[in-house]
Amino acid sequence: MALITKKPRGTEDVLPRESYRWQFLENLFREEARAFGYKELRTPVFEHTNLFERGVGDTTDVVQKEMYTFLTKGGDSITLRPEGTAGAARAFLEHGLHNDPLPIKAYYLTSCYRYEKPQAGRLREFHQFGMECYGTSNPAADAELITAAANIFDRMGLKNIRLEINSIGCPKCRAEYHKALTAYFSQYKDELCEDCQERLGRNPMRLLDCKVAHDHEIAKGAPTVLDYLCDECREHFDSVKAYLDANGVAYTVNPTIVRGLDYYTKTVFEFICDDIGAQSTICGGGRYDGLIEELGGNPMPALGFAAGIERLLLTLDAQGIEIPAPSPCDIYIANKGDTAHKKAGELCNLLRKAGLYAEYDVVGRGLKAQMKYANKIGAQFSLVLGDDEIAGGTARLKNMANGEQSEIPLDGEQFVKEFTAAKLQADFAE
Ligand code: HAM
Repeated sequence: MALITKKPRGTEDVLPRESYRWQFLENLFREEARAFGYKELRTPVFEHTNLFERGVGDTTDVVQKEMYTFLTKGGDSITLRPEGTAGAARAFLEHGLHNDPLPIKAYYLTSCYRYEKPQAGRLREFHQFGMECYGTSNPAADAELITAAANIFDRMGLKNIRLEINSIGCPKCRAEYHKALTAYFSQYKDELCEDCQERLGRNPMRLLDCKVAHDHEIAKGAPTVLDYLCDECREHFDSVKAYLDANGVAYTVNPTIVRGLDYYTKTVFEFICDDIGAQSTICGGGRYDGLIEELGGNPMPALGFAAGIERLLLTLDAQGIEIPAPSPCDIYIANKGDTAHKKAGELCNLLRKAGLYAEYDVVGRGLKAQMKYANKIGAQFSLVLGDDEIAGGTARLKNMANGEQSEIPLDGEQFVKEFTAAKLQADFAE
């Protein structure tokens, strides 16, 4: 029969045989977040559309072209989150987290949704690990956050990763920069794509990350933001660099990094890896000191980053870095006959309660097929139970790697004790 439907374009399934790769990364993220004092924040997969229009910015590609927006039966406009920062900031405000001791440090592991053209490393449903920090404008915080990301990529063993940083200033110095950009792009107005012609009057910085090839060429000659920083922003940027140096984090300054979302101020950064093709940014972030106020709160400096989990997995593959496979089955208890089948179930359950990974037949296979299956799942030990073993109260425990056998009593408590000892010995010998 034909499949009723296939997964929507730009989405991926994570199958049981590969989910350990995700779990490995997720554990690593959680450990790193803990080391930096970040606690998990979970927010809804959908939010009111105006949160993203206001937060991410209505001149951005994300808001203009890529959001999954729909009307609910009640007539509300809802959007699947295209990123994690706006929802996190909304939760921060809604729950008055500014009353907690500052800085507030929150991390998340979330799915995000963007209606983009799918290609390697670019999906319509993808996943981010993100860290957001509220309540400090100190440059040490920028460097600490960037260091957290760098540590993660180090711990993953990634090579050929470069960190590019920039400062895009504050609203004060940005006004001057906007003027310069507007003057520059106005010379080419007729050549720009329709979107950019419209953005020119509203937010000329968005022209710098236009994906249309010709606009991209024109953008190459645009004035750079670093030439327009005010004293405070320049000092902040210099301090961030000094703290990064002190933390031993290597970087290059790339004045063309402006990021594609509107909320950024001052520091912005990206981690890039050229081994995974065109979608080479594995992580991006920066400071967003104006977002909380933009969403209706009191002024509150903030900063954060998000890393794309699919892109990180692609990078691991491209660099031949293997994630340790999960430990295989500790024991397979094969059996023949009704009484032996029930005994196998009882013993498996005792082992499982003791934290071991035990299997027996729940398919109805014959003994030979059971042993074949035990081999396939890489069981470390096996045991065959039949009428004789049940009558005698003992069975032969077989180490599948070297074929060695030993006698083991089938009495529950003693069985678990002796199996655990045999397993320990085998693990030690490996
Ligand atoms: P972003 O640069 O839009 O920033 O996304 C962060 C990361 O998500 C990217 O570097 C990339 O690895 C991954 N990513 C983005 N789009 C896709 C896609 N279509 N398919 C696969 N992976 C993708 C943000 O989202 C900001 N919220 C980051 C941030 C947090 N800034 C401050 N705090």
